[in-house]
Amino acid sequence: MSAPPLLELAAVHKRFGGLHAVNDVSFGVPAGSIKALIGPNGAGKTTLFNLIAGNLPVSAGTIRFQGRDIQGSRPHRIARLGMARTFQNIKLFHGMTALECVMVGRHVQSRAGFFSGLLALPSTWREERAIRARSLELLDLLGIADCADIEATSLAFGQQRAVEMARALAAEPKLLLLDEPAAGLNIYETAEVARLIRRIRDLGITVLLVEHDMSLVMDISDEIVVLSFGRTIAEDRPEAIQQHPEVIRIYLGADDEPAETAGATGKAAAPC
Ligand SMILES: Nc1ncnc2c1ncn2[C@@H]1O[C@H](COP(=O)(O)OP(=O)(O)OP(=O)(O)O)[C@@H](O)[C@H]1O
Ligand SMILES: [Mg+2]
Repeated sequence: MSAPPLLELAAVHKRFGGLHAVNDVSFGVPAGSIKALIGPNGAGKTTLFNLIAGNLPVSAGTIRFQGRDIQGSRPHRIARLGMARTFQNIKLFHGMTALECVMVGRHVQSRAGFFSGLLALPSTWREERAIRARSLELLDLLGIADCADIEATSLAFGQQRAVEMARALAAEPKLLLLDEPAAGLNIYETAEVARLIRRIRDLGITVLLVEHDMSLVMDISDEIVVLSFGRTIAEDRPEAIQQHPEVIRIYLGADDEPAETAGATGKAAAPC
């Protein structure tokens, strides 16, 4: 008997007033896999991420993570269970270095409380040093260790996305949700993102990815779910998705280049 999926959605619905943004979506994400969620603009991909991460309540259906029903749990509780995410629009703090941004992500798992921080207890210092060391390791893993002391928002787009991923990884997640990690990146930066996602999977972290860049998706995904107007229209391996008539009609054949990636060049990924 195969192991239950790490993440499992069953008949999930989300309505915004009269709009059925997510309509009866069910799928599983096997542990150790890279699964992609694709679909045209407005298909409901980010909404689904918000439901999974607890940023929005579901209208109906269930979401199970590691076999546990996480419906109604607050985002920080879900994060503590081992789920981390990056956002469609890069969210880095102004005035913080790349290293500090990653250290913030690590504090999700930190045991040092607010009062011990105020009292500057030796145990807090030790933990802070460990957090710093682990954050540097993660920047190194993502190939941007040289950027550690540079203000994160001044980095090239590709490097900012790597900082976001490092920040998410700092929470030591079992499942990483990536919302359009290649948006706005040039082809070299996109190839680097593909390499990083594989490296993350090889660390044993399961990845659920939303992405418009089809070559990236087809290249790295074990399985793909296709959404259109909130509904699942296909779920299969990349080779089968590429041949799926409905997918070709509504998505792959719709445009030569999706609107969000068209014309997006991003800044060159210059070394720090
Ligand atoms: N908070 C909200 N309130 C009302 N409507 C919303 C809200 N969030 C999303 N929507 C609507 O739900 C639908 C799905 O949006 P969503 O952002 O999930 O799409 P998406 O698949 O991520 O699109 P894109 O590829 O452009 O990022 C859209 O029609 C959107 O306008
Ligand atoms: Mg989106």
